[in-house]
Parts: sequence; structure tokens; C-alpha cells
Amino acid sequence: MKNIRLKDHSIYLYDQWNNFRDLTEKYDKIIVLMDPNSKIYCYDEFKMKTEIKGLDTIVVPDKDNRCRSDVEGGASSGILRNCLEQYKNLETCKFIYERLTELGADRHSLLINLGGGVICDMGGFCASTFMRGFDFIQFPTTLLAQVDGSVGGKLGVNFNGYKNLIGIFNNPVGVFIYDQFLVSLPEVELRSGFAEIVKHALILNYNLWEQIKTMDKLNMDILLPLIEKSIVIKKQIVQTDPGETGKRKILNFGHTLGHALETAFINNNKSIAHGEAIAAGMIMECYLSMAYYNHSPEWMDDILITFRKFFPKFEIDEDIESEMLENIKMDKKNRKRKPNFTLMIDIGNVEYDLEVSETQIVKSIDYYRSNY
Ligand SMILES: NC(=O)c1ccc[n+]([C@@H]2O[C@H](COP(=O)([O-])OP(=O)(O)OC[C@H]3O[C@@H](n4cnc5c(N)ncnc54)[C@H](O)[C@@H]3O)[C@@H](O)[C@H]2O)c1
Ligand SMILES: [Zn+2]
Repeated sequence: MKNIRLKDHSIYLYDQWNNFRDLTEKYDKIIVLMDPNSKIYCYDEFKMKTEIKGLDTIVVPDKDNRCRSDVEGGASSGILRNCLEQYKNLETCKFIYERLTELGADRHSLLINLGGGVICDMGGFCASTFMRGFDFIQFPTTLLAQVDGSVGGKLGVNFNGYKNLIGIFNNPVGVFIYDQFLVSLPEVELRSGFAEIVKHALILNYNLWEQIKTMDKLNMDILLPLIEKSIVIKKQIVQTDPGETGKRKILNFGHTLGHALETAFINNNKSIAHGEAIAAGMIMECYLSMAYYNHSPEWMDDILITFRKFFPKFEIDEDIESEMLENIKMDKKNRKRKPNFTLMIDIGNVEYDLEVSETQIVKSIDYYRSNY
């Protein structure tokens, strides 16, 4: 059993149900927040393993809204995925606050966010703001939320079409990583989480990148050892800069263009998983790095070969491109409205706070279109 210790809480790896029971026994009321898939695929096992009686639950989106047919189908479809991200907003927070009120939650309650990044980000935000904040646990059920979303205390929701515009930094009382929840994940979600593992390798760990280069496919046996490595890398970074004023910005590699693409797709009802958008963003930002630091075309080809094994190409038409350029102007990471990039001096070594012209950004999108 392993714990990864952060300043004020631990990340408990794998079967740590005893620690879970110890941590939760002091609370008057325990409420589990889920999405329809985490309820179907994880909740029964969660109840069985925790042996906690009398849990209250909140499921978003709830049974009366537009996701109903996907929920009844029980499959984690692309439609529900995009649908879920669309529900990561203040309206759903209002629904959660209402349910918390109905359930009689107070500052001695505990919220357990049992779901992917949407549930963890939004549930953490609601727990941190309801009655000025009560305790919560992150219990991520997707690879992406396990290796990235649940480490580092970033919580929030989308607003007016912009990703994560409303939010705060706050830490849970614990994070529990239970690998068996990943068994029901569709391949697209494994790929999505894997993109963040690749990012961690590219920004900080050359050896991990070398290991990834030898891989041909994604399955649980291969991914399991990478989960821990990835969490440790993210922990190292966020601990040095919890509030993202400096070094933590290196985690944004691939995210300036990736978020812009993800937002443009979502606003146009096109399906793309977060990590898939980030993978595309990393390719474009590798191109920007090549231009900025004069890397050779071979350097770039080496990266593309590995990306092609795992990540599909997405069509970026002119409308999506112009929306991306607009989205980049509104990015939270901007200073004085100028987009802010993290670029690769080399594999495992990056610089942050770099400015890139719009012409270069357009070239990077063109490069993705014609070379990937
Ligand atoms: N806070 C952070 O630091 C941070 C970092 C990265 C990403 N994020 C956020 O995380 C979100 C993306 O997270 P995500 O990819 O987990 O998306 P998600 O929460 O939408 O989950 C993806 C899909 O998997 C389904 N699902 C969840 N658990 C399952 C299981 N065990 N079996 C089968 N299906 C399951 C969900 O219902 C959904 O359809 C984005 O909103 C992003 O902004 C936050
Ligand atoms: Zn990400």
C-alpha cells in the first residue's frame, strides 16, 4: 500500500479501504456525488468496499434532464461525455447546492466526489463554497481524473462557454485511487487520461517518455505503473507552486491550444475528450517549440510517431480555427490579453510564460492539419 503525502492531505493508492473508513468515520453525514456512469459502474463496489451505511447520493445530470436516454442506455457514450462537460456549470452547481440543502448538509458533512474530472472539479467547488466550505474527498473514477484532475486543488466550472472560468484552489481531505474502477472505462477515456501522462513525461521526465515510446497499445497492465509515476510528477510540481504563480504553469503544456480546440468543439456540438484535445494541443505546441528553439524536423518526427500510435487526428475547419483563435484570447492564463505558452527546450525540460505571435499560432494549426 502506498500513500503519496502532500502538505495537508494524502493520495491513497489502490486498496486502501481501511484508511478510507478511518478518515470518514468522524463525519455526521456523508454524501456521494456521481455522474450517471460512475453510479452504474462504480457505486455498488464503492458501497460494498466501504461498508458505510446510510449514504446520501446526488447524481448529476439527474434523471429528468436531457441526458436521460444515455443514462438509461448505461453506456459511457461520446454523447454523454460531451453532455457531462456541458453540465459542468453554475446551473448544475445550483442543483447540487439545492440537494445539499434538502439533505441537511452542514459544515460537519463530507462530500465524496465519485466520478471523473467533471464530478471532481464541480463537486470540489460546491463543497468548498457551500456554507463557506465543508470537507470533501476526491474519488476519481477515470484515468484522467486519477493522474491529473484530483491532484493539485484546482476546482471549478465552465462559464459562458469558457473552460473553468469560475473556480478556486482548495484541497480535499484525501484522494483515493482505486484502479479497478478503470476496468469499465471505454478506450477513448483511457486515451484521454493517457494524454496527461504523456504530458507529464514531456515536461519533466525523459525516462518516462522513453518508456512511453516503447508502448504500442493501452491496457490496464501497462497503465498501472504509469499512474503512480504520473501522480508523483504532478505532486512535485504543484507542491512547489500551489497557487500557479510560477513553475506550475509548466502543467499547461498543450493546454493553450488544446483548451481552445476543446472549447470550439464543445460549442459546436462535436465530440472530443479532454485528453484528445490536449494531445492535439501538445502536437501544435511541439511545433511552436520546434520553431522557437530551432529543433530539427527529426526531433519533431520522433514525437509524432509516438502520438500517432495513440491519438486520432481531428478535423480543424476554418470555423473551428477562428473560434480557437478567439478562445485563446480569453484564456485564463493570459496576461494583458496576450496568450501564454509553455514550450519544450527539450524532452523533459520546458520554459513557461512565453509569448507567441498569432501568425505562429496559425502556422501551428496548419502544421497539425497537414502533417499529423
Ligand atoms: N482540476 C484539475 O486539475 C483538472 C485537470 C485535468 C482535467 N480537469 C477537468 O476534468 C474534466 C475531464 O475529466 P474526465 O476526462 O474524467 O471527464 P468526465 O468526468 O466527463 O468523465 C468522462 C466519461 O467517463 C464516464 N465515467 C466516469 N467514470 C467511469 C467508469 N469508471 N467507467 C465508465 N465510465 C466512467 C463519465 O460518465 C463520462 O462519460 C474536464 O472538465 C477538465 O477540465 C481538471
Ligand atoms: Zn488537462
